[in-house]
Amino acid sequence: MLLKNQIALITGSGRGIGRAIAQLFAKQGAAVFLAARTEKELAAVAKEISGSGGTAEYADADLAQEAACVHVVAAAREKFGRIDILVNNAGQYGPLVPIEEYPLAEFDKVIAVHLRAAFLLSKLVLEEMYTRGSGVILNISSISAKAAYSWGSGYAAAKAGMLGLTRVTAAEAARKGVRVNAICPGPVSETRMSKELGADLAKRLGISPEEQLAGFLNGLLQGRAQTADEIARAALFLCSDQASAIVGQSINVDGGVAFY
Ligand SMILES: NC(=O)c1ccc[n+]([C@@H]2O[C@H](COP(=O)([O-])OP(=O)(O)OC[C@H]3O[C@@H](n4cnc5c(N)ncnc54)[C@H](OP(=O)(O)O)[C@@H]3O)[C@@H](O)[C@H]2O)c1
Repeated sequence: MLLKNQIALITGSGRGIGRAIAQLFAKQGAAVFLAARTEKELAAVAKEISGSGGTAEYADADLAQEAACVHVVAAAREKFGRIDILVNNAGQYGPLVPIEEYPLAEFDKVIAVHLRAAFLLSKLVLEEMYTRGSGVILNISSISAKAAYSWGSGYAAAKAGMLGLTRVTAAEAARKGVRVNAICPGPVSETRMSKELGADLAKRLGISPEEQLAGFLNGLLQGRAQTADEIARAALFLCSDQASAIVGQSINVDGGVAFY
C-alpha cells in the first residue's frame, strides 16, 4: 500500500476525477476527506469507499468561498487529526465565450474555485506540514494551462495560475519536507465537466458532440481520451514516496498534446 496511514484531503471528490483519486487513495491505505458542494454525491462516494473497507468522511462546501475553505480544513482535522496530503481538484469550466463577452463575475468565480481555493487551502495546511516536516500538495491543473484554446479565458488563466502557484509553493516548501506538484490532464471525456464542455463547444462550432470529441481526440498522439482512473494513478504516484524527488513539476497526463 503506497499511502498507508496517510490522511488525504481531496477537493471536488463527489464525482469525476476527484472521486477516482479518492477511491484509489483509499484503496492504497489513506483515510480520505472529501469536499464539494453536492452533499448527495459526497455521501455516495464515502459510502462506496467505506463499503470496500476504506475510511472516508466529507463536508459539503463551496470552495470559492474563503470561509468554506477554512471550514473544510477544520472539519478534516476534527475527523482525522491532521492532513498529510492535499489534492486541489475542485473546479468548473465556466462560460464558453470570447473575452469580450466573458462576464467579470464569472471570471472571478472560475479563478476563485480553481486558483484562489488552491492558494487558500495550501495556506491553511502548510504550517501543520512544516511542523511535521512532511506533506504533499497536488494541484490538478489542465493542458489548457499550456495549450491555446479559444473561449475559456477564465479557465486557462486559473489553470496556468495554478502552475505558478505550484512552483512558488514548491520553492518555499521543498526544504521543509513538503513536496508540491501539479498534473495537467488532457480530455477526460467521461466526466460531467468534460461532457458539458463538449456539448457547448459542439453547439458553438455547429457540429455534433460526437464530431467535436472525435476531432479533438484526433489531435492527441494516442488519439483517445484519458480516463479518470489514469489521472488518479498519476496522482497516486506523485503523492506517494515513489515520487520522493519530484518537486515543483507539472506532469502532463494527456495522451500527447503538450510537450513541456
Ligand atoms: N475532465 C477533463 O477533461 C479535465 C481536463 C483537465 C483538467 N480537469 C480538471 O479536473 C478537475 C475535476 O474535473 P472533472 O472533469 O472531474 O469534473 P466534474 O466531474 O464536474 O467534477 C468537478 C468536481 O468539483 C466540484 N466543484 C465544482 N465547483 C466547486 C465549488 N465551487 N466548490 C466545491 N467543489 C466544487 C464538483 O462538485 P459540486 O458541483 O458538487 O460542487 C465536483 O465534485 C477540475 O479541476 C478540472 O478543471 C478536467
